[in-house]
Amino acid sequence: MPRKKVTIIGGGATGGAMAQRLIERDICDVVIQDDPQYAGSMHHGKALDESQAAAWEGFSGRISATDGWDDTANSDLIICTAGAPRKPGMTREELLNGNAAIVRAKISEAAKHSPNAVIIIFANPMDAMCHVAMKASGFPRERVIGQGGALDSARYRYFVSDAVGVSPADVHGYVIGGHTDTTMVPVVSQTRVGGVPLTDLLPQDKIDAIVARSMRGGAEITELLKVGSAYFAPSAGTIAMAEAILMDQRRLIPCSVYHQGEYGIQDVYSGTVCQLGEGGIQRTFELPLTADEKAKVVAAAAATKELVGLISD
Ligand code: LAC
Repeated sequence: MPRKKVTIIGGGATGGAMAQRLIERDICDVVIQDDPQYAGSMHHGKALDESQAAAWEGFSGRISATDGWDDTANSDLIICTAGAPRKPGMTREELLNGNAAIVRAKISEAAKHSPNAVIIIFANPMDAMCHVAMKASGFPRERVIGQGGALDSARYRYFVSDAVGVSPADVHGYVIGGHTDTTMVPVVSQTRVGGVPLTDLLPQDKIDAIVARSMRGGAEITELLKVGSAYFAPSAGTIAMAEAILMDQRRLIPCSVYHQGEYGIQDVYSGTVCQLGEGGIQRTFELPLTADEKAKVVAAAAATKELVGLISD
């Protein structure tokens, strides 16, 4: 079987971290696509530097960089990190039209060269950018997926694990809804630690603090880094999605998906638990939410719809 091929659009901090995580799993070749006008030759430098890590890291896939699109042709997966990151004090929503233009241009080219690919969108505001990508590619919802829930759930699971004193691997919890500071919905009612409900393990005030910190998780990192936004946890979440798709793992990962009836929501990208494997989204899962959680999920989708309405063509 030929090696799978993944194009990572954008060779900045996030694209670089994703490229490294992915090539070191040794499950595909990786092409980093960027525009020398913005990136200079940085993406070429990163690809060559990481190629030279192969002897010690033991991978045999090829990692390369390109300025155009021909070298991206027939990718199985396209991960779009292109777009401006937020600066301290900024909301993700403030990036709307600047990043929409970038995502539209990049995805049109990428989709033309890889008509059968699955696309993962990373640029913010992420749920709205998925709409831009779906329109620019003409791909079905199964093949245009937003990362967001994967990252937000990782943050949530870390904070829960830290408070309870167990491994994050044994915390099962999902963050759904929107990928913004105000529309994320950590689903506390369904969070389990080793099968035990979180609400039996921590007092309500501690849980409330974890929820609030998870929702501002990206902003907290932006404030600490001062020059750009998070990339270690974001790349980990996205590459878990990538691996699930490339290896047909059928993993259940919360992602942004174009809702067609989930939670009664129609025609808008929002987060829910998705089964990821060959071909992208194979199935969606609706969690049994409390009335309050359900209301928040519905409000999140409405907020995204409103934001999408502000995108200029
Ligand atoms: C974050 C950005 C990447 O949450 O959305 O860190």
